[in-house]
Amino acid sequence: MKISIPKERREHETRVAASPDTVKKLVGFGFDVTVEKGAGLASNITDDMYKKAGASISKTEKATLENADIVLKIQRPMMKDEGEDELSLLKSGTTVISLMQALVSRDRMEAFAKAGITTFAMELMPRISRAQSMDVLSSQSNLAGYKAVIDGAAEFGQAMPMMMTAAGTVPPAKVLVFGGGVAGLQAIATAKRLGAIVYCFDVRPAVKEQVESLGGRFVVVDEEATKDAETSGGYAKEMSDDYKKKQAEAIAEQLKKTDIAICTALIPGKPAPVLITEEMVKSMKQGSVIVDLAVEAGGNCPLAEYDKVVKKHDVTIMGHANVPGRIPANASALFAKNILNFLVPMVDKEEKTIKFDFDDETVKGTCVTRDGKIVHSAFADLKEDKPKKQAKKASKAKKAKKAKKAKKTDKGEK
Ligand code: NAI
Repeated sequence: MKISIPKERREHETRVAASPDTVKKLVGFGFDVTVEKGAGLASNITDDMYKKAGASISKTEKATLENADIVLKIQRPMMKDEGEDELSLLKSGTTVISLMQALVSRDRMEAFAKAGITTFAMELMPRISRAQSMDVLSSQSNLAGYKAVIDGAAEFGQAMPMMMTAAGTVPPAKVLVFGGGVAGLQAIATAKRLGAIVYCFDVRPAVKEQVESLGGRFVVVDEEATKDAETSGGYAKEMSDDYKKKQAEAIAEQLKKTDIAICTALIPGKPAPVLITEEMVKSMKQGSVIVDLAVEAGGNCPLAEYDKVVKKHDVTIMGHANVPGRIPANASALFAKNILNFLVPMVDKEEKTIKFDFDDETVKGTCVTRDGKIVHSAFADLKEDKPKKQAKKASKAKKAKKAKKAKKTDKGEK
């Protein structure tokens, strides 16, 4: 069985989907592992390190992917209109495991199905206890939360901890974190370690205890309204207009005292909630910093610009693209381990192959295309929609034909 790891080609992508550690494990199972030359360089992994772990190095992507059974990637292979035609390098029957952006890329997933590629979208890994070690969203968000604070602190022209010196006292920085999920909690822990005073806003009441256990201060907006703010999956719901108004007032007050705001608030499947308006930015202290990790989903601050650091109303607003990719060595190591943890339970050591159990929750939850079709349950609407649409179209055409015929007969009679 050949497992291939090509170099990532999309803009801003510095990560790689295998580490020397995971390559060694895969080789140990008896698989042939091929890595494209230079694939790990941006993550400080040299070709020699992969070779020592037992991989062979291929000079081109074409050679790397040739006859691959399984391809491990960070980002979905590109199609011609995206810059390079990586999909055409894959033979029918290949399995690709990567981030797929599947739920917002239905047409791409149809193209993969048509090409006979089995795809597993790692972003769809179910959030069950058993799958925690396979959860790329968590492993990458955790690093993004850390990096956001480091980026913000580097841009901030003042110190983070309080310092009492003979020349005077340096006050501690005040950090405000929006969203206490995986990224937000790591941002709180990091800012605390740097000595800042940290506050956090979240709509889910369960977050309060987690924030406080890290030494942060949870800002309560409306305790009653947040009782129903969480989905059964542990995610946030969109809040009522009344709650949003109360929250905006509380944020406006808090922001006036804030030095660094870290935005991580997200609502799955929806644009990120707008939490810092332009008016609020205007009220912030000269030289303060906003790091908007939600920028790819529209941003918690509408003034944030994707992949840019901008200065507006004397506030620096950072909207870096692919923040986990800004800490590539750790991000690659954890992503690679997430994939390995996904594969290991399905390794058949005797036959030296991987047998996907399509009834397993982690496999069923991530498999998007198989046997020439989209098979993921999240796309069920599409299957139902199509026949309905076709039936509607057919009935419309039938009616039009009938009307035309009636008109003709009418004319004939006249
Ligand atoms: P996320 O990235 O979707 O959202 C980040 C945070 O933003 C969440 O805490 C959310 O409540 C908050 N938020 C949304 N709208 C907001 C608003 N208007 N104002 C303030 N905050 C707002 O969430 P993430 O970090 O991916 O995880 C969310 C949940 O999933 C947590 O309960 C976490 O414990 C759980 N989880 C479970 C895992 C497992 O069991 N395998 C793995 C990782 C997370």
